[in-house]
Amino acid sequence: MRTAEIREGYLSFFESKGHLRLPSFSLIPENDPSLLFTSAGMAPLKPYFLGARPIFGGKEWRRVTTCQKCLRVGDIENVGRTGRHNTFFEMLGNFSFGDYFKREAILWAWEFLTEHLKLEPDRLWVTVYEDDDEAYALWRDLVGVPEEQIGRFGEEENYWPGGAITHGPNGPSGPCSEIFYDRGPAFGTPDETGPNTGSGDRFVEIWNLVFTQYDRQGPIPGPGILKPLPQKNIDTGMGLYRVAAILQGVEDFYRTDTFYPILERVALLSGRPYLGQESVSHRVIADHVRAVVAALSDGVTFSNTGRGYVIRRLLRRALRHGYLLGLAEPFLHRLAPVVAELLGDFYPEMRENLAAVERQVRLEEERFLETLEGGLKRLDALLSGLRPGEVLPGGEAFRLYDTYGFPLDLTVEIAAERGFGVDTEGFKRALEAQQERSRAAMAFEREIFKRSAQVLEELYAEKGATEFLGYGTLEAEAQVLALLAGDESLGEAGPGTEVQVVLDRTPFYAEGGGQIGDFGLLEWPGGRARVETTHRTEQGIFLHRARVEEGVLRVGERVRAVVDPKRRDTERNHTATHLLHAALRAVLGPHVRQAGSLVAPDRLRFDFTHPEALTGEELERIELLVNRWILADFPVTWRYLPLEEARKEGAMALFGEKYGEVVRVVRVEGSPLEGLESKELCGGTHVRRTGEIGAFLIRGEEAVSAGVRRIEAVTGEGAIRFARGALSRLKALTERLEVGEAAIEERLEKLLAELRAKEKEVEGLKARLVQAALGGGGGLALEEKGGLRWAALKLPGLDLAALRQAADDLVGRGADVALVLSGGQAVLKLSKRAQEKGLEAGSLFRALAERAGGRGGGKGALAQGGGLDPERARLVLPELLP
Ligand code: ALA
Repeated sequence: MRTAEIREGYLSFFESKGHLRLPSFSLIPENDPSLLFTSAGMAPLKPYFLGARPIFGGKEWRRVTTCQKCLRVGDIENVGRTGRHNTFFEMLGNFSFGDYFKREAILWAWEFLTEHLKLEPDRLWVTVYEDDDEAYALWRDLVGVPEEQIGRFGEEENYWPGGAITHGPNGPSGPCSEIFYDRGPAFGTPDETGPNTGSGDRFVEIWNLVFTQYDRQGPIPGPGILKPLPQKNIDTGMGLYRVAAILQGVEDFYRTDTFYPILERVALLSGRPYLGQESVSHRVIADHVRAVVAALSDGVTFSNTGRGYVIRRLLRRALRHGYLLGLAEPFLHRLAPVVAELLGDFYPEMRENLAAVERQVRLEEERFLETLEGGLKRLDALLSGLRPGEVLPGGEAFRLYDTYGFPLDLTVEIAAERGFGVDTEGFKRALEAQQERSRAAMAFEREIFKRSAQVLEELYAEKGATEFLGYGTLEAEAQVLALLAGDESLGEAGPGTEVQVVLDRTPFYAEGGGQIGDFGLLEWPGGRARVETTHRTEQGIFLHRARVEEGVLRVGERVRAVVDPKRRDTERNHTATHLLHAALRAVLGPHVRQAGSLVAPDRLRFDFTHPEALTGEELERIELLVNRWILADFPVTWRYLPLEEARKEGAMALFGEKYGEVVRVVRVEGSPLEGLESKELCGGTHVRRTGEIGAFLIRGEEAVSAGVRRIEAVTGEGAIRFARGALSRLKALTERLEVGEAAIEERLEKLLAELRAKEKEVEGLKARLVQAALGGGGGLALEEKGGLRWAALKLPGLDLAALRQAADDLVGRGADVALVLSGGQAVLKLSKRAQEKGLEAGSLFRALAERAGGRGGGKGALAQGGGLDPERARLVLPELLP
C-alpha cells in the first residue's frame, strides 16, 4: 500500500467516525515563539485540550483528525544510523476534545489496523500504563488481545509526555497506550521478547494513544500531583513512515515510496549505489533535504539563530555527507524537486514554493562552499602554528565545524597530510556541550506546558489584557498583578531576583512588528527594578522581564513604570522604516514587499523582496527621498479601523502577519509632488512629525536570501554619529597617507602598484634561492635505482612553498623521486614515470616517515610532513624504491 493511500485511508476512516479533517498546520508554530517547530500532531491543537472551544469554519468540532508535518532535531545524531529516526516526519492523529475517550480510541485504532490496513492481529502487541486497569481490560476483554501480548510499563514508556509525573513538565498529560508491530525474530535480538525489551528492531512502535486526562502540577523535578482535567481528551500519534515500511514489506522507511526515490537520486548524482544500513551518508542527505525543503516551504529562511539556524545546520550536515560521497559541487537543490514531487500532492506549499526553495538552497550551498574555503585557510594557519608532534586542539576543530561548517573527518584528513593529529576527544566534548544546549532548547514538551502559561490564562480570565499607555506617554503609575519566575508564580521578589512582572497598565511597548521591547525602570517606595525587555502574550498580557535591584517587589504594590528615553530613538527608527518602505516602492517598483524588520534605538534593519542588488544610484535616491520627507516635517497619525476598511484604503499589511478584526493604521502624510504617502497596519510607536527623525543615512545593503535584500540605516543622533565616524576615519587616512582628501585614491593606487612590484620581486628571489640550493646549473647528480632516478637533498632556509618548488624543480630536471628537507619539514614529489611504476607519494612518505621518524602524508604525486631525520631519510629512501 502506497504511503499516500495509508494517509488518505487514515483520514477518511476517522472522518467516517465523525471527525473533521483539517489540513496539516505549518511547521512554524503559530503564536508560539518559544517553540521552534511543530513536533507533534497535538501541538497546534493545544488550546483545545486546555478547554478552549474548538470552533472550525464557524462550527464546533470536538473530533478532529490530521496528518501533521513534524520536525524534531533532538535525536539528530541517530538519523541515518538507525531505521527509526527522522527529523521531518508525518504524524497521523485523531483527537477528542472532551468527547470520546479510551474505549473508542482503542476500538477504532484496532479496527483501522486490522480491518483497513489488514495487519495480522497476532503481530500486534500493546502496552498500557502500569495502573491503567481500564485500558488493560479494554484491550483484553473488548478487543481480545491475549494477555501475553499486553505489557504494563511505567511513566517513562507509558505516560505522555514521557516521565512527566517525576520530571515534569506541568500541564495536561496522561497515561498512554502504545501499539507495536512484531516484525518477527529475524529483526530482533534474542533478548528482545516484547515491546520495550532488548536492543533489536523487532517490535516497532507504530501508534501512541494518549489519554489526556490530568493536569500535572507541583515542583520540577517532582513528584508532582495529577489533578483531573475538567474534560477528558484523546491525542493519538501514528508514525506514517513506520507503518508504510511494514505494509510495503521493506526493511525500514528508507525503502518506502516516499524516501527511496531521493536515495536513488543521491546514488545517481554521486555514482555510489544505496546499500541500506551502511549507506549512512545517503540516508542523512535524504532525511535532511526533506526537512530543509519542508521548512523553507513554510517560510523559514536560513539564518544564524533559531529555526533558520537549525535548517542551516541540517543543510551543512547534508552537504558534508555529500562531500563524503565525493559530491563537491552544490547538489542539494537538485533534490528539492524530488521532495516536492513526493510530498507536493498532500502539501501543496512544497510545490508552490519550489522555485524559491531551490534558489535558497542553491545560494546557501554556494555560501557554504565559500565558507569551506575560509575554513581551509583557517585550518592552514592553525596547522602552520603547530610544532612537530603537536595536535590540533579539539576546541579549534570544533570552531571550524561550528563556524565554517567544517566536518571533523575533513579536518583530520588535512591535518594528517601535514603530519599532525587532531584531538578528536576534545572535539566531541565541545560538540556534546553544544548538543546539550540545543537539546535544552528543543525540550518542546516543557515549553508547551509551562506552568506560567496557566497562571497567565487565569490572570487573563480574571483581569483581562494589560492596558497599554505607551502611544501617549513614557511614564505611568501601575499596580503589580503577578510576578512570574520560570514555572513559578511568586508573591514577592527580593534584590537580585529575575522576574516577569505583570502590571494592570503599562507604558512599556512589548516586542512586536519588528520593534524591540521597551526597557527602563519600575520604582516604588524603597525599591527599584530594572526592566530589560518587554513581551506580550497572545492574549495581550505584557510581561516585563525585570531584575530587582533594591527593596522587595510585591504583588499588589503600586509602582511608577518609567520607559528609558532611548525609546524616542526607537520611534525615529520605526517611522523611518515606514518612510523607507514607501521610498523603496517609489524607486524600485510596487513588487517591493516587506519581508522582515528590526527596529531598535540605535539602528533599523529592513528586509524586502527585490531580485537584485541595489545600485549606488538607487540607494542615493532612496536616501534623498526619505530625507526630504523628514525635512518637510509632515504629521504622523494613527487610528483604529476595521480590517476590511483598512484594506480598502490601501494600507499595507505585512505578509504572514495575523491581525485582529480591528487594526491600527499608521499614516505618514507626504508631498504629493513626490507621490509619497505611507499607510501601514502597525502596532508600533512612532514620532509625531517626520521632522523629529532628524536625518536618515543608509549604512549598507546586502542579500539575505534569494530574492530578499536588507538595508540597514540610522537616524537622528545615530546618523550624526555615523557620519562623524566616517569623516574622522577619512581624515585619519589622509593624514597617514600624507595627502589631501582629493588625492587619496591616486595615492592608494600608487601604493598598491608598488606592493605588487615588491611581491613579484620576492617571488623571483625565492626562485633564485631554490636554484642556489639545488646547485645552480644543470650539474645535478641524480642517483638511480631500478631505473628510477632519485635525489634526497637537505636545503637549509626554505619554507614549505619554496620546498615544493624545489621538489618540482628536481622533477623538472629529470628526478623521478625527489625528496627535499629543510628545517623540520619535508616534501616528496614523484614524476609521472614513478607513478606509472606503481609508486604513490602518500604511502611512500609514510613508509619513509616510519623509518626516519616524523609523520606526514599526501596523495598521488605529492606528499609532505615533518620531523624526519634528514640523514636517515637519505639512507632509507633508496631501500623503499622498487
Ligand atoms: N502526542 C503524542 C506523541 O507525540 C501522540 O507521541
